[in-house]
Amino acid sequence: MFSIWLLRGLLLGAIPVRSVWGGGSQLSPESSLIWGPGLRADVVLPARYFYIQAVDTAGRRFTSSPGENAFQVKITAPDEQFTRVGVQVLDRKDGSFVVRYRMYASYKNIRIEVKTKDNHVAKSPYILKGPVYHENCDCPQEDSKVWVEEMSCSHTIPQIQKDLANFPTVDPDKIAKEIPERFGQRQSLCHYTIKDNKVYIKTYGEHVGFRIFMDAILLSLTRKVTMPDVEFFVNLGDWPLEKKKTTQNLHPIFSWCGSTESKDIVMPTYDLTDSVLETMGRVSLDMMSVQANTGPPWEEKNSTAFWRGRDSRKERLELVKLSRRYPDIIDAALTNFFFFKHDESLYGPIVKHISFFDFFKVRHQLLFILF
Ligand SMILES: *[C@@H]1O[C@H](CO)[C@@H](O)[C@H](O)[C@H]1NC(C)=O
Repeated sequence: MFSIWLLRGLLLGAIPVRSVWGGGSQLSPESSLIWGPGLRADVVLPARYFYIQAVDTAGRRFTSSPGENAFQVKITAPDEQFTRVGVQVLDRKDGSFVVRYRMYASYKNIRIEVKTKDNHVAKSPYILKGPVYHENCDCPQEDSKVWVEEMSCSHTIPQIQKDLANFPTVDPDKIAKEIPERFGQRQSLCHYTIKDNKVYIKTYGEHVGFRIFMDAILLSLTRKVTMPDVEFFVNLGDWPLEKKKTTQNLHPIFSWCGSTESKDIVMPTYDLTDSVLETMGRVSLDMMSVQANTGPPWEEKNSTAFWRGRDSRKERLELVKLSRRYPDIIDAALTNFFFFKHDESLYGPIVKHISFFDFFKVRHQLLFILF
């Protein structure tokens, strides 16, 4: 039996032996597990998601992939002729999968079917009793406490709590005057006001293009939940602003960056929030697709230290020189020259960019953390 499967695997080529057998075990539709927020109508996300864990007939969890196409997922709105929804099944190669779907319309109900071959998996089909809203629906939950519960948000987030502890009270009128006076000339800042669940903004500084990322997350939030009236400042720059040594008269500023020497309140950076909002849309690099593109197993990853980038610092040029001297240890090359003169005899030719996922083919990446 085994040899027949082996032969078939080899003949078909595309099916590796391990995929068919999952290390010698048989996939069980009933014992496999399905869970996650994407099975609940009230969890409104840009892309909804849930997990599948493959379990074998002996009740053991798979720890390697049972095959990329082991599970088939179908999502439909039973009351409609067409369902505008995109579905992706991401193989995490550890026996589990992430299924995500992006809805392009709201529906009364949604039916999620997960099958392996022709058998329903776990408690499939799952019926989400709606309304099931899509990301762009302006359909806020009026009670923000209910929303926090529905979304299973953590009750505390230690880092935010710690950053906020510097500001036991805030006088909005005072900071509305003082923060622009202190930083408004030379930095890029936004003063946001949320009132009656509408977002208002006043910008300071010349380069405020990055406000679009903050606007986007606030607008997404106000579509999901009626936000309390609130005012705050956001720093759009690449470095923290509040660097006073004392704790006297600190100014509360939300930033995408921080340090142990600064008092900015750090929030998730714009490319993270953007990739979440645009999941399965404009963006292909998000925290979930990374889970399905981790490259070869560790033993098979290339152990030459790896770096790609542009010439934005002298140290980078030095690294490229080192790489040319010790190519067996370091593979470092420049993808662009902008700041320095390109001397090909010193730094070699400019190389093409590589795919983000190709970085997972190597064991060691060299990073520059310099200011
Ligand atoms: C590892 O990568 C380097 C260049 O980055 C290459 O020269 C070398 O052949 C690779 N090693 C293996 C084992 O593939």
